[in-house]
Amino acid sequence: MGAAALMRTSVSRREFLAVSAHAGLGALALPLGGVLRPREVLAQSATSGVREIQLEAREVQRELAPGKVVRAMAYNGQIPGPALRLREGERVRVALRNALAEPTTIHWHGVDVPNAMDGVPGITQKAIQPGETFVYEFEARPAGTRWYHTHFEEHRQLDLGLAAPLIIEPARPDPFPVDREYTLVLDDWATGTGQPVPATREGVAGARGGTGGMMGGMGGMMGRGGMGPMMGGGQTPAYDTMTINGKAYPATEPLRVRKGERVRLRLINASADHTHVARLVGHRLQVTHTDGNPLVQPVDVDAVPIAPSERYDVMVVADRPGAWVFTCLAPGHRAAGEQVLVVYEGHEGGNAKAPDEGVAGLDLWQYGLGRGRDVLPRPSGRERVYDLALSGGMMGSDVWTINGKQYPRTDPLRLRRGDVARVRFVNHSMEAHPMHLHGQSFKVLAVNGARYAQPIVKDSVDVEGRMGSAVVEFTADNPGDWLFHCHKPMHMDGGMIALVKVR
Ligand code: C2O
Ligand code: CU
Repeated sequence: MGAAALMRTSVSRREFLAVSAHAGLGALALPLGGVLRPREVLAQSATSGVREIQLEAREVQRELAPGKVVRAMAYNGQIPGPALRLREGERVRVALRNALAEPTTIHWHGVDVPNAMDGVPGITQKAIQPGETFVYEFEARPAGTRWYHTHFEEHRQLDLGLAAPLIIEPARPDPFPVDREYTLVLDDWATGTGQPVPATREGVAGARGGTGGMMGGMGGMMGRGGMGPMMGGGQTPAYDTMTINGKAYPATEPLRVRKGERVRLRLINASADHTHVARLVGHRLQVTHTDGNPLVQPVDVDAVPIAPSERYDVMVVADRPGAWVFTCLAPGHRAAGEQVLVVYEGHEGGNAKAPDEGVAGLDLWQYGLGRGRDVLPRPSGRERVYDLALSGGMMGSDVWTINGKQYPRTDPLRLRRGDVARVRFVNHSMEAHPMHLHGQSFKVLAVNGARYAQPIVKDSVDVEGRMGSAVVEFTADNPGDWLFHCHKPMHMDGGMIALVKVR
């Protein structure tokens, strides 16, 4: 039995060990179910040239901040899970042992994995049952800030902490070298211990900047916080705590920098519901990568809106010694814990000035500011155009649709390998939808009617509410059945998924 056959089979631990021995997978020498610290995870580079990684999903209790203890789910006991740092092109084999009391899977978000490794239960694999181990194997590409997370009942499991960074170092020299870097995973929690934070409604990540969407209009103010739990999707939890790397301020770990350094922050929004607006007081942020993909040139802004599932790499030039606040400017987020100090060497114990909430007068990142690199595969087939109308959530309902249909009744996009697909989204609902495509990245050609000459490359595009639109284009290069879905798990569960079938 070859490794490929093994990978497609979900087996019990005992069978797994037996099969491993037969298949000569002796390199997988780690104790199954053993808990590893992140360093150990990275140390397991096997002699075979395949990097072996062991993950275990299980329930934990976690203190997000003093007095805020939650039941959660963790990879290897950590929230976020261990950051996997791989080299572009490297082969990796990840054995996920499910020590939860319910099924699970892992999706490698933003990685061009073979379809059978994509982690979508019922589509690309059977859900991994409690006590079972499943082995994922793929090549790490493309380079950049990716992440991995559960794809089983995400509205619970992702919310409870099953998410982690996956960083792929470029094989070629980094276009934007830095002296130091930090990865920050932003997440929202419903702990029942505080005042609910207003929901993100129309969104801001596209192109309306500070005028439309949650920052300028009433939308953000009128979420669950202000209008009661039925406003915008029946069962959306009351998020009251915002974390950075699994901790809410004051429990967040300060980031240390030295004067003169160029510092990269890899920002990952693992939230189920909220757009965050990242800001480091006293500093500009230079956006260098969109969903992991390098721009031609950095874009200098004051703050970066990040929709659920999006990633931005930003560079900070550490030229203002002191202690500063890195935080989110969306209403209520800082008070809910989304804050971490950035402390220059020699300025420990310094007083950090809190920013004003809101984005008035600030330069905000928007998709149209970036110039992308032309990195996607060349098309060789037909050109197909799809119009997808996003709708739903009427009167607080949990039904979310594409062209009036709820998944699995939505129409699939049928493509042949080499075809180029242009997908035109129009959002008829009141809420923004961060639409994520599995298995390949796309170019963002236009947003809200504005066309971009040098489109940025992403795998999630935030389509703003109230008739916001976005046009994306990708080359169907990776065969298989791929989800194209809203990354707000409540919306995905409510039916906002289309299948992209590449043959
Ligand atoms: Cu982050 Cu279906 O994905
Ligand atoms: Cu949505």
